[in-house]
Amino acid sequence: MSSEDLKPAGVIWHNGHVRTEDRNHLLGQRPLTIWLTGLSASGKSTLAFALERRLVDIGHACYVLDGDNIRHGLNKDLRFSHEDRTENVRRIAEVARLMNDAGLVVITAFISPYRDDRRLAREIVGAERFVEVYLSTPIETCEARDPKGMYKRARAGQLSGFTGVNDPYELPRTPDLTIDTSIASPSDCVGKVLAEVIARIAVSKGEKQPTLKDSP
Ligand SMILES: Nc1ncnc2c1ncn2[C@@H]1O[C@H](COP(=O)(O)OP(=O)(O)OP(=O)(O)O)[C@@H](O)[C@H]1O
Ligand SMILES: [Mg+2]
Repeated sequence: MSSEDLKPAGVIWHNGHVRTEDRNHLLGQRPLTIWLTGLSASGKSTLAFALERRLVDIGHACYVLDGDNIRHGLNKDLRFSHEDRTENVRRIAEVARLMNDAGLVVITAFISPYRDDRRLAREIVGAERFVEVYLSTPIETCEARDPKGMYKRARAGQLSGFTGVNDPYELPRTPDLTIDTSIASPSDCVGKVLAEVIARIAVSKGEKQPTLKDSP
């Protein structure tokens, strides 16, 4: 059953009076979701927050949705079963879509190990606003970093369902960008993502500005 079918009777979309181009004009940018995927300790959060800092510094309204942070609140009821991981990604994608609708650039930092879930995220956000960045850092590097001691616990058999050790990570087949953080510094990584996305975010000077007359 699709989510469309689950809607109770009488739940009908109510259109607002502010158009996407009004918001883009207000904020001087076009919204985008930059979806980071990769193993634990591949460098998603590090890159996400460094990129957010850089985008804000150059004048873009931007927000990070980070895996661990979101599990402190919105998704604190979810664990790490396949079903819960799927629901985790679905909710994040819906939040990213809302934030994009509000005009913000969104950076997400979630392992998001399943291909179908990432496909669903792209569908929810909208392909034209979605950039998938795969952090291809080798597991040996992730495991050597192991800042939370999770690989050690998983290898010792104290932790089940840990991605890359005893839970799958399905490699992205056609990511928009691939970065191996074992050979690129955080600031190099920021540069690579910026080079890929900046033209999609920046509003060019010649672009038509909405006028009062255009408004509904
Ligand atoms: N480009 C980089 N070069 C060197 N070290 C890095 C780089 N990016 C991240 N690191 C280091 O790797 C470790 C893990 O990074 P981070 O916490 O960003 O991973 P993560 O992908 O968010 O992991 P998790 O999925 O568990 O949240 C940290 O100690 C961080 O300092
Ligand atoms: Mg993280």
